[in-house]
Amino acid sequence: MGGNNRLFTYFVVVLSNFAITVHATNTETDTLRLVHLLYRHGDRSPAHSYPGNPVKESDWPQGFGQLTQIGIQQSYFLGNLLRKRYLKTGFMKLSYEASEIYVRSTDKDRTLMTAYSVLAGLYPPNGTQVWNKQLPWQPIPVHTVPLVDDYLLRDDAPCPKFDRLVKEFRKNSKELKEFIFKNQDLIKLIHIKTGMPADPLSLFRVLDPVHCERIHEKDFNLTLADWVKNDTIAGRLLEARNFVSKIRFATPEIARLRADCPDINCPLESFKSLMKDMMPVDIKQECELESNVPTKTVDKSSHLVIGIAVLACLAGVLLITLIAVTVIFRKQDRHVYTYRPLPIDTI
Ligand SMILES: *[C@@H]1O[C@H](CO)[C@@H](O)[C@H](O)[C@H]1NC(C)=O
Ligand SMILES: *[C@@H]1O[C@H](CO)[C@@H](O)[C@H](O)[C@H]1NC(C)=O
Ligand SMILES: *[C@@H]1O[C@H](CO)[C@@H](O)[C@H](O)[C@H]1NC(C)=O
Repeated sequence: MGGNNRLFTYFVVVLSNFAITVHATNTETDTLRLVHLLYRHGDRSPAHSYPGNPVKESDWPQGFGQLTQIGIQQSYFLGNLLRKRYLKTGFMKLSYEASEIYVRSTDKDRTLMTAYSVLAGLYPPNGTQVWNKQLPWQPIPVHTVPLVDDYLLRDDAPCPKFDRLVKEFRKNSKELKEFIFKNQDLIKLIHIKTGMPADPLSLFRVLDPVHCERIHEKDFNLTLADWVKNDTIAGRLLEARNFVSKIRFATPEIARLRADCPDINCPLESFKSLMKDMMPVDIKQECELESNVPTKTVDKSSHLVIGIAVLACLAGVLLITLIAVTVIFRKQDRHVYTYRPLPIDTI
């Protein structure tokens, strides 16, 4: 079910991200107005397995692709950390206020659970918001859209044009040819150990279970295949994963197909047209989706991301930030549209 694992994957798969927006109502100009946070889920079990794996799905507490207790703790901790940071600067209120925050997650168990865990740490009820003395928690909404419609947070929403451009790029890439040549021995080894095709994508596909199993070997008393325990092989698989991910977003033309505009209610039409070199005005049309054909499940192999994906993703954050900032300035002063950099060093 896609995605990758903790630590190194916080910034890897846009698929599993969600965003939190906090905005303040301060009227001075040189103050922090808006915060956008974009992050991935916490620690999780592997998203899938490889043929012949001695570790079974049932060895993981909730099966594949689920947030672990460590993941819950990490996310709760992040919420606490954010609370401390933004209470200290007076940006955030002590109690939850619906108008102050908007949270969106991809429609995945692990990211939804991450969002809820972060919010548990961010808004422990206090004073009149306590509704059960035994439970230091209150419900905070998390918004989502179906995966096939999520062009904002997923890097692998259905996009035939993207698939075509990536395929063309791979066919002609000198870099990829060099990579295959340099890693022939590793590709052969994975082919022999798993029976998967002797193909660089197979390196990517085994990386997720290999990495998760190595991290959690002790936590869940897993019995790993010998080659999975080998540090050299694991290190090279990581490098291979980064490479495969990087070439997935190899050109600006490809990357922009992963930068959609948020559909939050603000007047975006002229903004979209200004940004059209970086971001499609109508992403579904640009992706060449046949509008009447129901979108099918996405190829699992397409969960390879990083590098330029991160760039695309950051561009997305920047866009969202600009949009939201614009909206707030408009609310407060109809004549001044100046964008001022956020005083990041005081956060
Ligand atoms: C609850 O609010 C009081 C002041 O109203 C404050 O002193 C206390 O630290 C708050 N507790 C938490 C957990 O935020
Ligand atoms: C871990 O697994 C091994 C082999 O399956 C078994 O012998 C051992 O008792 C297990 N240890 C724990 C703590 O479950
Ligand atoms: C790890 O794998 C490499 C490459 O197959 C091999 O040369 C090396 O001896 C292995 N190391 C161990 C400790 O098995």
